[in-house]
Amino acid sequence: MSKRIEVNNLDVFYGDFLAVEGVSITIEPRTVTALIGPSGCGKSTFLRTLNRMHEVIPGAHVDGEVLIDGNNLYGPGVDPVLVRRQVGMVFQRANPFPTMSIKDNVLAGVTLNNRKLSKSDSESLVERSLRGANLWNEVKDRLDKPGMGLSGGQQQRLCIARAIAVSPDVVLMDEPCSALDPISTLAIEDLIEELKQEYTIVIVTHNMQQASRVSDKTAFFNIAGTGKPGKLIEYNDTTTIFSKPSVQATEDYVSGKFG
Ligand SMILES: Nc1ncnc2c1ncn2[C@@H]1O[C@H](COP(=O)(O)OP(=O)(O)OP(=O)(O)O)[C@@H](O)[C@H]1O
Ligand SMILES: [Mg+2]
Repeated sequence: MSKRIEVNNLDVFYGDFLAVEGVSITIEPRTVTALIGPSGCGKSTFLRTLNRMHEVIPGAHVDGEVLIDGNNLYGPGVDPVLVRRQVGMVFQRANPFPTMSIKDNVLAGVTLNNRKLSKSDSESLVERSLRGANLWNEVKDRLDKPGMGLSGGQQQRLCIARAIAVSPDVVLMDEPCSALDPISTLAIEDLIEELKQEYTIVIVTHNMQQASRVSDKTAFFNIAGTGKPGKLIEYNDTTTIFSKPSVQATEDYVSGKFG
């Protein structure tokens, strides 16, 4: 299920504005890759190109290729809706559907994809996804209660359950813990560690400890100044990026000198 992502010379635009320039990177299956860098350098923008969410914004477009196991997401005739099913996303703020029960939140992506499930199939999918998101024990007795009734950390795990219920190959996470307390953050980090057995995971984080705790590889992005495009500066094993990076800017950033 877990798949390789290969990005070749990707430029990312909002209208005429080149927000991210010339990214080439290969992300191996069953790894966690952290994207780090100062605010505005294009981490979220780049992340959203990996499941064609970028184009949801009017005028937004890309040049270059994103291959998932060799298939270009931006090839002619590729349906962005199917891409988003293959490459799931978890956002900074937990965003369960407010009017839906816990169970219906888990199933939301599956039903949107027009899959009809029998009652027993949907029950087992709900259980499997909630177990996968390490939330089952906390909610199994209130599956019909609103998703909004959960704590912030539980809501974020519910969103992860919703993302994995559609059986994606890749899970993208944009600062998934930034609104969470330390305990919930550790729960999500443990979960990420487990999920990488099955999925390719790419996570944006501002938290350097988190990047070094959860990721195998780290990609450092930077920006030369306002209005300039963000670029991928250095990509390597996380231990190398944090202990002996080859670019001075990487060292300055990971040691907290800027950003
Ligand atoms: N919807 C948009 N329309 C136009 N420009 C945008 C849009 N979203 C982001 N940008 C611009 O693209 C650049 C990269 O922004 P992005 O949000 O990707 O940065 P980031 O690295 O995720 O920052 P942060 O760490 O603050 O989340 C910035 O110059 C930003 O102003
Ligand atoms: Mg961002």
